[in-house]
Amino acid sequence: MTHDTHLGGTFQLADDLVVNRLGFGAMQLAGPGVFGPPRDRDEALAVLREAVALGINHIDTSDFYGPHVTNQIIREALSPYPESLCIVTKVGATRDEKGGWPHARSPKDIREAIDRNLENLGLDALDVVNLRIGGGNDGHSHVEGSLEEPFTALAELQREGKIKHLGVSTVSAEQIKEAQSVAPIVCVQNFYNVAHREDDELIDALAHEGIAYVPYFPLGGFSPLQAGELDAVAERRGVGSMAVAIAWLLQRSPNILLIPGTSSVAHLRENVAGAALVLSQSDLEELDRIGG
Ligand SMILES: NC(=O)c1ccc[n+]([C@@H]2O[C@H](COP(=O)([O-])OP(=O)(O)OC[C@H]3O[C@@H](n4cnc5c(N)ncnc54)[C@H](OP(=O)(O)O)[C@@H]3O)[C@@H](O)[C@H]2O)c1
Repeated sequence: MTHDTHLGGTFQLADDLVVNRLGFGAMQLAGPGVFGPPRDRDEALAVLREAVALGINHIDTSDFYGPHVTNQIIREALSPYPESLCIVTKVGATRDEKGGWPHARSPKDIREAIDRNLENLGLDALDVVNLRIGGGNDGHSHVEGSLEEPFTALAELQREGKIKHLGVSTVSAEQIKEAQSVAPIVCVQNFYNVAHREDDELIDALAHEGIAYVPYFPLGGFSPLQAGELDAVAERRGVGSMAVAIAWLLQRSPNILLIPGTSSVAHLRENVAGAALVLSQSDLEELDRIGG
């Protein structure tokens, strides 16, 4: 399989929205544990400016990163925003004094979260908002249950013009269907990478519907991926292991959009280089052994 290797090619996220498939996840720009200010604010600003300079036009964030910190850094680094930049945010959680992530999804919570995102990003309308539902004990599993009330609240804010497009996160296939019975969605953001492939079937089903699948923790998240197969392919191809993890996701399905996170300009450049790597059939077969 081949793809346009400049940032993985493009994807039509919505009628009025085309993004490069390699984007950037801003969560790592807050302080340790995604709480408080970054260790190196200048580097955080530099990462965002370099991302846009390299052609990245899809940034994932939330006002609960920091809280507020990540959005404020994005605004400082990039506002006034380039016309082509798509900022995707998420609601449905808050932070407690211990740095936990309790749910916050009453209609009032949702409305307040949208207003905080608009204010801290300095925008009149948000391009895409994901409603984050699950979490569970591990922080990233689906938790069954209805999302109708919070998703209806989000759809109401879309009708008011505060949001252009909707998505859902940390959800099951049933919850995606329930959301679609309320309003159209353009993306699903769930935990997935070369070593965690529980959503394989879901990705194919969403591709069929033209809906983007945006894996979070594409590089393993707080514990970066480690696998002998990843290292072996990386060594053979003369790149870093994270570049291979990125290339694998881009080749897995054309509806996958990537938002790898980093707090380092050097890592950002490596990740962008990873999008240009085209894996061979034997590389893919070797990497397929990781999941099984
Ligand atoms: N919807 C949700 O519930 C949800 C949950 C989690 C995350 N997200 C989103 O998904 C995005 C991606 O997830 P993530 O940032 O947590 O995890 P990730 O992209 O899987 O991995 C980030 C980690 O990999 C390291 N890294 C990045 N590039 C590297 C490279 N080239 N070489 C070596 N290490 C590298 C980073 O450290 P350095 O900083 O040192 O580079 C960081 O520790 C987040 O930024 C956030 O926007 C969404």
